[in-house]
Amino acid sequence: MNSGPASATTPFDVEAVRAEFPILDQQVNGHPLVYLDNAATSQKPKAVIDAICDYYTGYNSNVHRGAHFLADKATRRFEQARHKAAAFINSPRVEQVIWTRGTTEAINLVANSWAASNLGPGDRVLVPALEHHSNIVPWQMVAQRTGARVHPIAVTGDGEIDLAALEAGLDERVKLIAVGHISNALGTVNPVQTIIALGHNVGAKVLIDGAQAVAHTPVDVQALDCDFYAFSGHKMFGPTGIGVLWGRESLLSAMPPWQGGGEMIETVSFDGTTYQGLPYRFEAGTPDIAGAIGLGAAIDYLNALDRAGAAAHETALLDRAIEQAESFPGVQRIGQAHQVAGVLSFLLEGAHPADVGMLLDQQGIAVRTGHHCAQPLMTQYHIPGTVRASFAFYNTTDEVDRLFEALTKVKHMLLPEVK
Ligand code: ALA
Repeated sequence: MNSGPASATTPFDVEAVRAEFPILDQQVNGHPLVYLDNAATSQKPKAVIDAICDYYTGYNSNVHRGAHFLADKATRRFEQARHKAAAFINSPRVEQVIWTRGTTEAINLVANSWAASNLGPGDRVLVPALEHHSNIVPWQMVAQRTGARVHPIAVTGDGEIDLAALEAGLDERVKLIAVGHISNALGTVNPVQTIIALGHNVGAKVLIDGAQAVAHTPVDVQALDCDFYAFSGHKMFGPTGIGVLWGRESLLSAMPPWQGGGEMIETVSFDGTTYQGLPYRFEAGTPDIAGAIGLGAAIDYLNALDRAGAAAHETALLDRAIEQAESFPGVQRIGQAHQVAGVLSFLLEGAHPADVGMLLDQQGIAVRTGHHCAQPLMTQYHIPGTVRASFAFYNTTDEVDRLFEALTKVKHMLLPEVK
């Protein structure tokens, strides 16, 4: 993994980094924007915006089809981006990188192709109770079709996967474990390597939802030894509408296509159609060409960044935020996992999260409130949702402090009688 220039001698220069992200320099509701909704989507550096703009202004064309200069250039850039994505996650082969619209579509691809043709009555899919809906619902849908069952893996009060409960539920009926690398709702860093090994012990496949991980930590699919890894471009400083399904080659090659159309076929006739090899058999229709090129630019950006310095900076931001949350009267942290990344989820006692979010927004602070597409987890905590501040390396310690200054004002507005 390229971690960019060494950070040992040069401190991480957050102001220089911020200058690369034009959107951050603006006023919202009369205050400088503090963008703390990075788990929903990250902002884009100028290099990504320029790459998309260059494509549309200079060489917009369809890929793999045209016999002309622009089509050739677009195809080369599109496929170069696939190579970058493959290297980014240390894929053994570039053909194992399948473009999707994002993590959700990548998971749906596995559900509709691998799971639909490999699950049957009595089979089990294990899913931790803290998962995002996009890593629950596709399995429920395919379970309905195949007679398999989806079983939740218990989560502790601290927001960690209960590994003992997972082990107790593991037997040869378990065909798949689908688990997030980092929880979007709580920031828990799940012990995916352990879970993958446990799953493989009983012959189960393991899919990792990496949507929240790719912005925070290097990913090496070979070191993880997972069977599928899904992620989205927009959570890692690339554009929306593009993501990746990575799969073990032996699995992908045996999987039937899930969408039919142009690009995924070899020959078509009314007597029978044959399909392309990897990765195209899973890429029916015109892909998001600009998206892939933009994601390639995001990967270049990350590779040139001091990623170790960025990670250390992010950890310092989150530590500062946790410390302030824990000493703030009336704030209850939701999730106290040993290892967290990027996310502080909390409640202000006596206030609805939506009201807190709205009053923070009035002070220029962007957070997400609600169930964060993790309703089973919220049900377990008996809460309607949380206020979630989520961080990226371009956030500053001053912004963390501004969050809590603003929260003090919110508290006075909503709960004037409370000290
Ligand atoms: N999955 C995204 C989030 O957690 C949308 O906000």
